[in-house]
Amino acid sequence: MHTFNIIFIFSLNILFIYTFSETGLEDDDRECIKTLNLTVSFVINSFDKYNLLLEGNEEVNKFVNCTWTRLGYLTKNGIINPDALMKWIEKDIIKMDNNQTESIGHTLVNPCKSIKGEDSGDTAVKIPNAKAFSENDFDETDLHCLKELNIDKKVIIESYDDNDFIKEGNSQMNAFFTCGWKKDQLQAADGSINFTNLQSMIDYLLEKRKGVKNAKDREHLAKQGVDHCKDVKGDDHGIICVKMYNCLLKHIGELIQQ
Ligand SMILES: *[C@@H]1O[C@H](CO)[C@@H](O)[C@H](O)[C@H]1NC(C)=O
Ligand SMILES: *[C@@H]1O[C@H](CO)[C@@H](O)[C@H](O)[C@H]1NC(C)=O
Ligand SMILES: *[C@@H]1O[C@H](CO)[C@@H](O)[C@H](O)[C@H]1NC(C)=O
Ligand SMILES: *[C@@H]1O[C@H](CO)[C@@H](O)[C@H](O)[C@H]1NC(C)=O
Repeated sequence: MHTFNIIFIFSLNILFIYTFSETGLEDDDRECIKTLNLTVSFVINSFDKYNLLLEGNEEVNKFVNCTWTRLGYLTKNGIINPDALMKWIEKDIIKMDNNQTESIGHTLVNPCKSIKGEDSGDTAVKIPNAKAFSENDFDETDLHCLKELNIDKKVIIESYDDNDFIKEGNSQMNAFFTCGWKKDQLQAADGSINFTNLQSMIDYLLEKRKGVKNAKDREHLAKQGVDHCKDVKGDDHGIICVKMYNCLLKHIGELIQQ
């Protein structure tokens, strides 16, 4: 079931997206469809347009439990087998001719090891959907700010929840955000947001990280997001950035789902 690696790669910033289709099904998938009395179209439709699996559907859970058990990603007791997952990611990433295979594999699998669903199928569904911010997501500006403010990377990584939202109320995270946004000219020295630049940044992230290829769609989403969130207020410059980020993520996420 190669589509899972698309999800991992997708969360890694690599421009690559395809829609799950019947040709993506492998023998194990077909066996499981038969065993569980599901249909091909049910399975295909269980992936949303970003190739994430729908959570909370018992049939989907059973299907993933079935394929992942057959492939060895889940043990017979329904426990994740990180080594098998790693091998699979490496194998598929190697196919893409990427040099950093091993570190990418670890980066992806490590944060997922502790994910626990209500049953083994649910666990498997939650794993590819985990989008924790990782080490690889820091850009040049971020690294400068970490150094300047003497903040540990871990503090930043742990400030993101599983849905990529930032947990509010962490002063180090706030300081980190205002530092980066000022360097990137998203925020002026007086704390006001430069909405022109913010919109360009969202456009860029939608293309590079969310795989939205159509420029018109990106422009629409970015503009709608900024319009919706432009009045966000905060007690200091950092809080404004963090609240703005969360507001944009929520609103644009809602627009995308429609
Ligand atoms: C399999 O699904 C079909 C159609 O949904 C249904 O008619 C049939 O009874 C099911 N068979 C089993 C063994 O569940
Ligand atoms: C998961 O699959 C295994 C192997 O097919 C099976 O023994 C187990 O009962 C399944 N668990 C669930 C929750 O469906
Ligand atoms: C892989 O890394 C080597 C040296 O570290 C470099 O010469 C080569 O171009 C890289 N290949 C790819 C596909 O990035
Ligand atoms: C936003 O920043 C750009 C430079 O990056 C600048 O030209 C523009 O005047 C700024 N806009 C506002 C409203 O400050």
